[in-house]
Amino acid sequence: MAFQTTFAPARPGGVGSWSGGTACETPWQSLPMAFNVDVVRSSYPALTDGYAYLDGAAGTQTPASVIEAIASAYRTGIGNVGGAFPASKRSDGIVAECRRAVADLVGGNPDGVVLGPNMTTLTYRLSYGLAKGWGPGDEVVLSRLDHDANVRPWVQAAERSGATVRWADVDLATGELPAQQYDALVTERTKLVAVTAASNALGTRPDVAAITAKAHAVGALTYVDGVHATPHVPVDVAAFGADFYATSAYKWSGPHVGTVIADPALLESIRPDKLASSANDVPDRFETGTSPFADFAGVVAAVEHLAGLDPAAAGTRRERVLASMAAVEAYEQDLFGTLLGGLESLPHVTLYGKAARRTATSYFTVAGRTPEEVAIHLAERKVNVWNGHNYAWELTGALGIRDAGSAVRAGLVHYNDRSDVDRLLAAVAELAT
Ligand SMILES: Cc1ncc(COP(=O)(O)O)c(C=O)c1O
Repeated sequence: MAFQTTFAPARPGGVGSWSGGTACETPWQSLPMAFNVDVVRSSYPALTDGYAYLDGAAGTQTPASVIEAIASAYRTGIGNVGGAFPASKRSDGIVAECRRAVADLVGGNPDGVVLGPNMTTLTYRLSYGLAKGWGPGDEVVLSRLDHDANVRPWVQAAERSGATVRWADVDLATGELPAQQYDALVTERTKLVAVTAASNALGTRPDVAAITAKAHAVGALTYVDGVHATPHVPVDVAAFGADFYATSAYKWSGPHVGTVIADPALLESIRPDKLASSANDVPDRFETGTSPFADFAGVVAAVEHLAGLDPAAAGTRRERVLASMAAVEAYEQDLFGTLLGGLESLPHVTLYGKAARRTATSYFTVAGRTPEEVAIHLAERKVNVWNGHNYAWELTGALGIRDAGSAVRAGLVHYNDRSDVDRLLAAVAELAT
């Protein structure tokens, strides 16, 4: 008998559950309600601890529905995949549903959703596979705006294969990554263009579609880092022109799982290093070892959670994701205006980046204090922020702030509210010299 596993999503604040064979019913999703941050916040148990969680760019908190989906998978009983017994078939079902959920989140094909521990590991894995076809004379184009996870694996793959790295630079005054420079950078020798959909430090959202179009015009592949963009905006991998799109569920309310989305036919053309005994199918051949199946159940719940953030959204899960993420973007941008305006009004604060299109991510220094001192001061006032280079290695080097401890990052995600911003601004104001 075919065993179908389904996830019943919960209302915000409630919990979902795994079961065998029943359809999901989500009547609340058709209620005509707008995005409501108080309702959203009430679905996150961790947010009751009194801290302002402005560290979401490094990893978000998880709603009760995600926590329960993971617990439910373990409670119900899961096995390794590919077995004859129900617990194994439940894991088969979870993996398949996880691929469908990720595909709905980004507009991809479930058969091209590679799952793994995190974006960095998967990018290394893909870089080894792709670089098997590179040699001296070939070129890869990287950007100094990117997180090092979309830089170093390609630099090292180029070194191994004899290929040359060409760099796209950031306009340091604005934080923009001008797309025009790719006209000169991309040539007939280009094999790959790797670029971020959003900077995890400055929030800059480059014109990815323009950049990937230039790559495709010469037959190069594109690897788009969507780790920072995905929690903030509606994503469509085709509109980005992303041959590979990488994202990590722990940045969008899910567990520590990474994923790369690609056309299955493209994945078929890549031969990653793998065990002789493991599956040779796509996308399985890119997934080494035994996967965290319960966490994959949490990924499904996280996508359901995102799809339900605008409860007025209707239609397929993909349609609800798009509508909800549009509502999230509008909400975050409005609140970000308050955050940025407040920081700009403080003479002892220096802000980095003012790109025309950016996520709600601020990066700043405070006169007379190291970024670490600022972060400690804020932590004492129950404000969570990150200090340092945040792996924006090339960018902080180009800005000349890396050796001085880089900067402080305070970013918004959909569960942050005005009180979080007010607490940050009041605490930073105290640091006036
Ligand atoms: C923009 C960006 N890319 C890549 C990564 C690396 O992701 P992971 O931790 O899943 O390897 C991060 C993590 O902070 C990130 O913000």
